Amino acid sequence: MSNGNIYIYGAPASGKSTLGKALAERLGADFVDLDAAIVEKAGMSIPEIFTTKGEGAFRDLESEVLRSVASREPRARVVSLGGGTLLRDDNRAFCESNGTVFCIDTPSEDELVRRIGAAAGSRPLGNKAKERAAHYASFPNRVASFFDAQESLVVVGRGISAAVLAGRNVVADETVAGIWAERLGVAPFATIPSGEEHKTPSTISGLWHAFAEKGLGRKDCVVALGGGVTGDMTGFAAATWMRGISWINVPTTLLSMVDASTGGKTGCDLPEGKNLAGAFHFPRLVVIDADFLSTLPPELIAAGRAEMIKHEAIGGVGSSKLKVENLPTPQEIAQNLMVKVGIVREDPFETKGRRILLNCGHTVAHAVEKATKYRVSHGEAVAIGCVEEARLAVRLGLAPAQWPDEFAARFAAAGLPVELPDGLDFDSLVPLMRGDKKREGGSVVFALPCGWGDVRGVKIDLSQVSKVH
Ligand SMILES: NC(=O)c1ccc[n+]([C@@H]2O[C@H](COP(=O)([O-])OP(=O)(O)OC[C@H]3O[C@@H](n4cnc5c(N)ncnc54)[C@H](O)[C@@H]3O)[C@@H](O)[C@H]2O)c1
Ligand SMILES: [Zn+2]
Repeated sequence: MSNGNIYIYGAPASGKSTLGKALAERLGADFVDLDAAIVEKAGMSIPEIFTTKGEGAFRDLESEVLRSVASREPRARVVSLGGGTLLRDDNRAFCESNGTVFCIDTPSEDELVRRIGAAAGSRPLGNKAKERAAHYASFPNRVASFFDAQESLVVVGRGISAAVLAGRNVVADETVAGIWAERLGVAPFATIPSGEEHKTPSTISGLWHAFAEKGLGRKDCVVALGGGVTGDMTGFAAATWMRGISWINVPTTLLSMVDASTGGKTGCDLPEGKNLAGAFHFPRLVVIDADFLSTLPPELIAAGRAEMIKHEAIGGVGSSKLKVENLPTPQEIAQNLMVKVGIVREDPFETKGRRILLNCGHTVAHAVEKATKYRVSHGEAVAIGCVEEARLAVRLGLAPAQWPDEFAARFAAAGLPVELPDGLDFDSLVPLMRGDKKREGGSVVFALPCGWGDVRGVKIDLSQVSKVH
């Protein structure tokens, strides 16, 4: 029997079948819907089994069918369970001994009751959801899911990466492999040296050679395990290997969880500039496991928070206080990521002008990075850039006077700098901003932060702005 089964569990109407089916499809695994298998075996619907035979008989049948579907052949599968399957301790022990139980985090109990109300009649134990809250909460491996553009499935949770990585073709960041490979039970077939300086064509070519040696063909799938550098490069190597093979992204930094892992951009740097060679190639699955954050150094947590605060400005979720003393929870990550995912869905290939909003703070940030020869990190530059651009919005009469301070306070609370380094001012950055790759004609297009939920794409003639300043 396989040890690699994934069991999807959770309250009635929490979306177990939908997630199970989508996940199986993307993992290339078999899918079993336990309720459907029971109906097939019994020859009647589940409410009918309940009325004619009673709950006890239903649970016996359920336990029997669970054992038969999970043990059929040595191949791992994804099994969507019923809402009460694991109430029996022996069923729970059975599933936990030959696989991993992913328990769906439902949006809220009220939402659940509302959904069940809508589906009343078809679910015999629907109203038990609230009663069983403690039971569901006792499962440590949590998951929530949604779709990025191009049917890319995004799952966010805890304790979910080992089951997804098992037996796959993993490309890992060297540092991440050193810390996590053994714990996760994975043996990457290729590793990428850590650091932006290795985000080069020569590393890409190294990956192609590793793919060749591994004998990867058109139908194979590679998995990236690491931060944004690993994801961008593994995705790009996958996009170009045999004209495109599929890939799965398992981001391990906060920045890659809330930003780089979705949106389909892949690529590498050139001496002439960052991310100049690349392709849109959406991963078919993104697995965000908040457990990875436990080994991330504080400055990289802060870097991720900079992009999270940027998303808060775009999405207008600024009223929810960012708790900087704790690591972000899967719920916070999922909520934040939805801002980017929402925009990418509307403009997957950056052709409609919507994705420009994600560039909030970045026109100044890129100039700060260049001016300081990258001594200021990207996350720090984003914080400084957002505040400088908020000040620009005030100068242009687009934002209220107190807005930059309010925005700055949020970044400062996350341990990020909010003032330009000594020797730099806005005017000195103008020539560098004019060279920004998102420039149009003589003007520069900014995604100007003007308030929470008010980021605007604005074309600005910087020669005018410099004089105003
Ligand atoms: N594709 C996109 O849409 C997109 C968006 C934003 C940024 N990016 C790219 O992402 C890159 C930056 O990503 P990043 O900040 O994740 O950098 P990174 O991948 O270089 O990771 C930063 C460092 O953290 C280490 N690390 C990763 N996970 C760890 C963990 N769990 N524990 C301990 N150490 C860990 C890595 O070894 C590395 O040294 C840039 O190249 C940027 O261009 C891409
Ligand atoms: Zn950024």
